[in-house]
Amino acid sequence: MELASPSFPLSGRRIVLGITGSIAAYKSATLARELKRRGAQVRVVMTAGATEFITPLTMATLIDRPVHSDFTEDEHAGVWTNHVELGIWGDLIVVAPATANTLAAMVHGQCENLLQAVLLSARCPVAVAPAMDLDMFTHASTQDNLRVLEERGVDIVDPGTGPLASGLVGKGRMAEPEDIADRVEAHFQKTLPWSGKQVLITAGPTHEPLDAVRFLGNRSSGKMGFALASAFADQGALVTLVVGPVNLPTPERVHRRIDISTAVDMNEAVQSCWASMDFGVACAAVSDFRPAQTSDIKWHRADMPETIALKENPDILRGMGQSKTDAQRLVGFALETDEGLDSAKAKLARKNLDAIVLNTLQDDGAGFAVDTNKVTVLDASGRTVEFDLQAKDELAQKLVDLWRTTLIP
Ligand SMILES: Cc1cc2nc3c(=O)[nH]c(=O)nc-3n(C[C@H](O)[C@H](O)[C@H](O)COP(=O)(O)O)c2cc1C
Repeated sequence: MELASPSFPLSGRRIVLGITGSIAAYKSATLARELKRRGAQVRVVMTAGATEFITPLTMATLIDRPVHSDFTEDEHAGVWTNHVELGIWGDLIVVAPATANTLAAMVHGQCENLLQAVLLSARCPVAVAPAMDLDMFTHASTQDNLRVLEERGVDIVDPGTGPLASGLVGKGRMAEPEDIADRVEAHFQKTLPWSGKQVLITAGPTHEPLDAVRFLGNRSSGKMGFALASAFADQGALVTLVVGPVNLPTPERVHRRIDISTAVDMNEAVQSCWASMDFGVACAAVSDFRPAQTSDIKWHRADMPETIALKENPDILRGMGQSKTDAQRLVGFALETDEGLDSAKAKLARKNLDAIVLNTLQDDGAGFAVDTNKVTVLDASGRTVEFDLQAKDELAQKLVDLWRTTLIP
């Protein structure tokens, strides 16, 4: 069993870091590194003023990609930086440090440099960390500008008080990079519907060994479970994905992936973390049985057994249902080859689930290995919701939204 990835709370989050012409720009290097350390993807846009204080080369080295500072990258070749693309790419824009000048430009919608153009095109939230001398900071213009920006929803990371570059002492020092990074984390936690919820998802098949090279398995591709993991993580959940042998990359933002092979391993992995979860989705196609005896070497034709005895595997879902607390919610999947509705209803009750997702192999385009699915969701209160055939990614988003409104108090 492989335990992966420590905590990357900003995993997959896209942050545009705007740097303006303040002496505090040297702290932006630490901020960029801190955001990256926490898992964020970072792009940097610097004003001309900023490049006087810290070199684009320093920032490019830290974020491992070129920084943007001009509208045009190669004037003669007609190559330009797509400010609209940058504004749309980001999940959040952080301007740190933010000069009095840039704050004023933001208030008035000026578009005189690349950063201002990105800010005007942005569809995502914006945070600013002002940095300036205390008289500039307390000046009515700056205070008015900050008030207007705050009213428009810009998150103002208040400057600290202390010795300033001018030699004066007072309020105006840019907040510390770690504090700004904490604020960025808090932003993502409070804005998303599943923020703060721990979600466990099982996905894929299990492989039950027969001999050194052969196994009993099934055709589950893991696609539905991975689509769900991605949708939950996008909605702010801290996702732990316990996954059988599949050939899929870990979705962005997924907090932890545990790779297992057999049902016994999956049971062990689930047992180790289920108690600390708020929500569980058992999507894996776990083999109900395994060969009673296995061989460490490959069976040759001559020593093939005539019959293979099977042994029952642990019922992972039932174990989760039995130990479920009042605060936890549990959803199971049922794949039926026949009608299935009655059998899904029975499974819902028998395994103490809050909802069950039924898909039948009778529907074209539904089930294993395909990119689409058609499901019916039944819940413990008797509600039934049918979803048309659609891409597993789209369906996953709808299921995650449904459970947020119907299963989470
Ligand atoms: C040494 C030096 C330090 C400066 N520090 C600051 C500062 O901390 N905050 C500020 O608002 N402006 C500061 N300025 C002024 C800005 O660099 C100036 O207003 C510039 O036009 C800002 O442009 P930008 O907002 O496009 O980066 C400083 C200027 C110099 C020369």
